Amino acid sequence: MGIIKSMEEFNSNIKRVIISQEEIAEAVKKAGKYIDDLYDGNPILLVSILKGAYVFMADVSRAVTVPSEIGFMCAKSYYSGTVSTGAVKITMDLDQDVSKYHVVIIEDIIDTGRTLNDVVNLLKTRNPISLQVVTLLDKPSRRKVDFKADLSLFTIPDYFVIGYGLDCGEYYRNLPYIAEYNEVKAD
Ligand code: IMP
Ligand code: MG
Repeated sequence: MGIIKSMEEFNSNIKRVIISQEEIAEAVKKAGKYIDDLYDGNPILLVSILKGAYVFMADVSRAVTVPSEIGFMCAKSYYSGTVSTGAVKITMDLDQDVSKYHVVIIEDIIDTGRTLNDVVNLLKTRNPISLQVVTLLDKPSRRKVDFKADLSLFTIPDYFVIGYGLDCGEYYRNLPYIAEYNEVKAD
């Protein structure tokens, strides 16, 4: 997919809404309550991996009431076939010293599980006080590495989804809902 040439083309790729704005708002509240209950007033560091989780992070960070800092990372995982080479390349790292924090990773979607598996293993080597993973979406049928979030808000089938931070060719991140992407087959 290259540059979108018209509004018609842009709209034609949005197949159908699968999770509405209202359902997302409920899930954000649930995530906020889960985090508040777990940390019970202790300060936390919310971490998300750019770019996909930026919208969810913005909402969850405003739904928690415990004292919190935010941090962002950019990461790329390298695999040889289905086996992790163990090399996760951090193209942008956190400023914070993780060993001083209860860390909560805020993720948009877990697909094969590779990126998050590598990031979690890396953060563990830095000895956080505790580490939790909260994901908005989960596609368990696509897993290549065994990885489970502590809180997963929506389990979805193997659809390619867009909106609420998730892109296709960098477009659609700003849709306020999650939609199924319409894969137009070339003929
Ligand atoms: P992983 O395969 O679990 O490592 O997922 C890596 C990244 O792929 C996610 O953080 C998303 O940015 C992206 N991704 C996976 N599935 C989808 C999708 O359905 N739509 C948009 N991005 C996706
Ligand atoms: Mg992502």
